Amino acid sequence: MDRVKALRLDRLLSNMGYGSRSDVKKLIRSGKVTVNGEVQRDEAEHIRPDHDRVSIAGTEVNYRQFLYFMLNKPAGVISATSDATERTVLDLIEPAERNKGLFPVGRLDKDTEGLLVLTNDGDLGHRLLAPKKHVPKRYIAVVSGKVTPEDIRAFHDGIRLDDGYLTLSAKLEPVQPGDPEKGDPAEVIVEIHEGKYHQIKRMMTVLGKKVLYLKRISMGGLMLDPDLKPGEYRELSAAEIQLLQNES
Ligand code: URA
Repeated sequence: MDRVKALRLDRLLSNMGYGSRSDVKKLIRSGKVTVNGEVQRDEAEHIRPDHDRVSIAGTEVNYRQFLYFMLNKPAGVISATSDATERTVLDLIEPAERNKGLFPVGRLDKDTEGLLVLTNDGDLGHRLLAPKKHVPKRYIAVVSGKVTPEDIRAFHDGIRLDDGYLTLSAKLEPVQPGDPEKGDPAEVIVEIHEGKYHQIKRMMTVLGKKVLYLKRISMGGLMLDPDLKPGEYRELSAAEIQLLQNES
């Protein structure tokens, strides 16, 4: 059985960033496109990407059905595909790759940094975000005040948020407990298994603390690449895509 569905030649080329459907139609009609070595001038020709070799002016097109990127989201951009006034995570993606139906898998607040997956694989995205999946997400947080054993227990037991929702059991691991007398904030690792609006900030608020900095470092088995500076992104490796598939 074919792993990748057959699709029209013009769609394949436009999905791969060779221009709009009308641009690629012109390209095909110009006779520069070959399929399995033969010139193909019919844009409606069905291509089986697993079998057929498509070339443009002698250069083979390396077809991939889906794109998967890991972005180190910087503060100051919103996790949306477009917005009338704000910069979005899509604005950080190269223009040639931007118009391929990419969307962020989940949301980070505007001031939160770190791991954000962008893909055009709708099935995987929706499976990862399904509330019942409880995919673990880990964050580094800097918070005001001192982290106590009671706070760790409260995270473990679940915290009742301002709207009455009781969070699932979460982990709070102090890296630096913080010393309010010296004005030193605490540094912690937080692991949550759901993604309510402003969840970590609201959990900390209930405990009388304020989140000063928040960065996501992993989602399921996928870790943020430490070589990516804020605003940088790269494609996921096949092994990393597999980690997400296993999670979903
Ligand atoms: N929790 C928050 O409060 N903000 C985020 O961006 C992610 C988790």
